[in-house]
Amino acid sequence: MQVFKTIKETRQAIKYWKKQGLTIGLVPTMGYLHEGHGSLIERCRKENDIVGVSIFVNPTQSGANEDLAKYPRDFERDSKICSDLGADFIFCPDAGEMYIDPQAYVNINTLSETLCGKSRPTHFKGVCTVVSKLFNIVSPDRAYFGEKDAQQLAIIRKMVEDLNFDVEIVGCPTVREKNGLAKSSRNVYLSDDERKASLCISKAIKKGLNVIHSGIESSEVIDTMEAIINSEPLAKIDYISVVDAKTMQPVEKIQKDVLVAMAVYVGKTRLIDNFSYSI
Ligand code: PAF
Repeated sequence: MQVFKTIKETRQAIKYWKKQGLTIGLVPTMGYLHEGHGSLIERCRKENDIVGVSIFVNPTQSGANEDLAKYPRDFERDSKICSDLGADFIFCPDAGEMYIDPQAYVNINTLSETLCGKSRPTHFKGVCTVVSKLFNIVSPDRAYFGEKDAQQLAIIRKMVEDLNFDVEIVGCPTVREKNGLAKSSRNVYLSDDERKASLCISKAIKKGLNVIHSGIESSEVIDTMEAIINSEPLAKIDYISVVDAKTMQPVEKIQKDVLVAMAVYVGKTRLIDNFSYSI
């Protein structure tokens, strides 16, 4: 497995592989890899000749109140995971390699204004910008993203459609711990008590899945889920919303495919999770 720190050496290698007619798959990450990332790399391995994992803690997607320096990092561990799962290269630039006094950004309108975009107003602009840059650097045939970040996935799909990126976006199912907690790099921030408390999220999802049906008012689903979260003293709801699965706009009644998405603070850690319901 090769480790590239510069855009130049990455492009050279990609050019070489493409000349040989090999397909390239990319798994964009911010590192501190867990089984969720592992499942993306495995899927990427099955579907492409060359597997690349990018590891870059992207400054443009973190808000002013979010401490980037505290984002968990462990390159040695990440690189072992990538190599064990058969990755061919890691692209791990530093911030100076990726951004030199940037003036150009990629933004997406309506889709980024609901759900997580409400409490993190500049987040998706940073995500779209860095993902565009990664696509321009790596030119992947396919790129892999987790369904846990459902809004991010919908936004990237729309960005690719609108800007005619020649890449297939592959969404992969959320990986959960046995107790139901969705795998996330942020789970490391949770104390033992907070870990236990965070199970209210998957319990709320289970309950939501039980009550949801065609024709039900969204508010009824939301109320049921809110009651479970609110009964957990360490948890505080940021949002629970029922939105159109494609447009991310709120729906009042379940009459089409929807995404039921939530963000919940457990202590200081903001966790997100969701489920989809198809008519
Ligand atoms: O999902 C993530 O880890 C990040 O938002 C991504 C897609 C790697 C962009 O920095």
